[in-house]
Amino acid sequence: MTRRAVNSRMSGLYKHSIAERGRVVCEAAAVSERVRAYFARGGGLDLESADKMSENVVATFGLPFSVATNFLVNQRDYLVPMSVEEPSVVAAASNAARMVRASGGFVAEADASIMTAQVQMDDVPDVERAAVRLRENKSALFAAGDRSIPKMVERGFGCRDLDVRVLSVEHGVLVVDLFVDVGDAMGANCVDTVAEAVAPVVRSLVGGHIGLRILSNLPLRRMVRVRCDVDADVLGGSEIADGIAKASRFADLDVFRAVTHNKGFMNGVDAAAVALGQDWRSIEAGAHAYCAIDGRYRPISTWRRTARGLEGRCALPLAVGSVGGSTQAHQGVKVAFELLQVEGARELAGVLASVGLASNLAALRALASEGIQKGHMKLHQRKGEAAAEQRAPETANAETTAVIS
Ligand code: MEV
Repeated sequence: MTRRAVNSRMSGLYKHSIAERGRVVCEAAAVSERVRAYFARGGGLDLESADKMSENVVATFGLPFSVATNFLVNQRDYLVPMSVEEPSVVAAASNAARMVRASGGFVAEADASIMTAQVQMDDVPDVERAAVRLRENKSALFAAGDRSIPKMVERGFGCRDLDVRVLSVEHGVLVVDLFVDVGDAMGANCVDTVAEAVAPVVRSLVGGHIGLRILSNLPLRRMVRVRCDVDADVLGGSEIADGIAKASRFADLDVFRAVTHNKGFMNGVDAAAVALGQDWRSIEAGAHAYCAIDGRYRPISTWRRTARGLEGRCALPLAVGSVGGSTQAHQGVKVAFELLQVEGARELAGVLASVGLASNLAALRALASEGIQKGHMKLHQRKGEAAAEQRAPETANAETTAVIS
């Protein structure tokens, strides 16, 4: 893919009509006629495609298709598609991205796309010796796994590593974790195939009964890390920067706060993940499990005072794909990818985690200054008015608000 020049720095997008916003965004991302036409007809999903995606379909269910502005990640501009029912998430992320952009943007790095396939074995005789035997026969297990995903292997991906863990000596329970590079896919189908293909070889080597054969939604070898700096001046002064750092410490110290802190982070990740057709349940499951990985639930992100202002950091496992899954099945998702212009799964992971960090920063900034309700309620009020008046979407263009840049 040749990347088109994108300019994500925008202010006042909200002031335009919906149709005009679509045109501005299309201009800024130099997208194809397909994207323009999708926006012009109001987006959506046709019934025939919906029927192929799920079962017992009786209609389609809509969500807003929004675009977050101002994102700069690894020196690239991104217009980020987001779908969420909650007011202020998109505005807040765009506003925080503008602040981060002023000091160089987000710096993201993602591991290779290593997913974990699990094979559960029960009633294995002499389970400790069995574990050794399996480790010694790594290459036979990799060969069986790779044979089951020839197209992946052709593209240079496939089984990479293996771990065997004894879970119960008494019941002869062990698990084989196979680590598979799935390239630019999310990889669930691929690793499920590998798990099923490898299981009979495991049994032939060590006996016992085959149990579950499925991916793990805690892909610890598929981490993404993002950091950024923000100047105190841009945030509104050193008192606000202090307040954000103290809010971060609060989340470190208190699980009740940590959960809400993380919810604010995931507001951004999930909204972008939904628009981009990602399995957001798997993302949520992995992120929260990672937060409690050492036995104590912790915040996904931290904010520390620096001489200039703040440094934000986050780390989470993130299994997302730029090919396969619903990336081809849903017209809106195809449009979302054309707008975002990522070249692969790792780049996508870096952008999604940056949106999370931006959402988190926006929430903490509001909480550490005027409180969340002022900006939030203005936007909620808009939603109430729209529902009450049942007004046409074109006229639902609201007044300015503090959260929108
Ligand atoms: C609301 O959706 C998210 C917040 O509660 C996050 C936070 O408290 O950090 C505002």
